[in-house]
Amino acid sequence: MMDEICSHIADLIVNSISAEAKHIKVTIEKSKINNELSLKVSDDGKGMNESILKQVIDPFYSTKIGRKVGLGIPLLKGTAETCGGSFNIKSTPGRGTEIAVSFPLNHPDLPPLGNLKDTILVLSVSNPEVDFTFHIKNDVVNFTFDTMEIKKMLDGLPINSPEVIKFLKDYLDEHLDFFNKQ
Ligand SMILES: Nc1ncnc2c1ncn2[C@@H]1O[C@H](COP(=O)(O)OP(=O)(O)OP(=O)(O)O)[C@@H](O)[C@H]1O
Ligand SMILES: [Mg+2]
Repeated sequence: MMDEICSHIADLIVNSISAEAKHIKVTIEKSKINNELSLKVSDDGKGMNESILKQVIDPFYSTKIGRKVGLGIPLLKGTAETCGGSFNIKSTPGRGTEIAVSFPLNHPDLPPLGNLKDTILVLSVSNPEVDFTFHIKNDVVNFTFDTMEIKKMLDGLPINSPEVIKFLKDYLDEHLDFFNKQ
């Protein structure tokens, strides 16, 4: 069972990677003013047509070979609905997919966030050929983690080399502190 928001984020990103996305944008916003936690994942992968899109929210649909049941999206939709939040999916074949979910921040069934730092780090360094842009916001602070910019800065050094991973770990620790606190 996916009882953390970060597991849902990871599932959406894995879906985008399976759809051959090259650039994945993730926005995570926590607003106390609006009493809302919102997530958006958009990709430039192969997208889905209308009929696939309809089936995707049905847990007995999956294009994974050897599997009949895809659970990631139905579970996320279920969690959002249980909390009185919203779930939206838009997709264009050949262009990409965008999934947006929101939850009321004060709902007792809202799953815990989980480890956002490790989620961002692991996904970014284990998929070096994919570019990620993470926007992390609350009512006061706005932080962007963009692997395209990081790769430029690294000047050829692989993003998954041990010294870069260590650097990124510290960097994310420092810059994500605000989100966990507030
Ligand atoms: N970003 C995406 N781009 C294109 N197709 C997608 C995307 N996300 C999901 N899909 C399609 O929707 C199906 C269902 O996704 P879902 O995450 O619910 O299940 P799954 O990934 O197949 O299995 P699970 O998440 O349980 O491991 C996928 O098999 C894929 O065909
Ligand atoms: Mg999935």
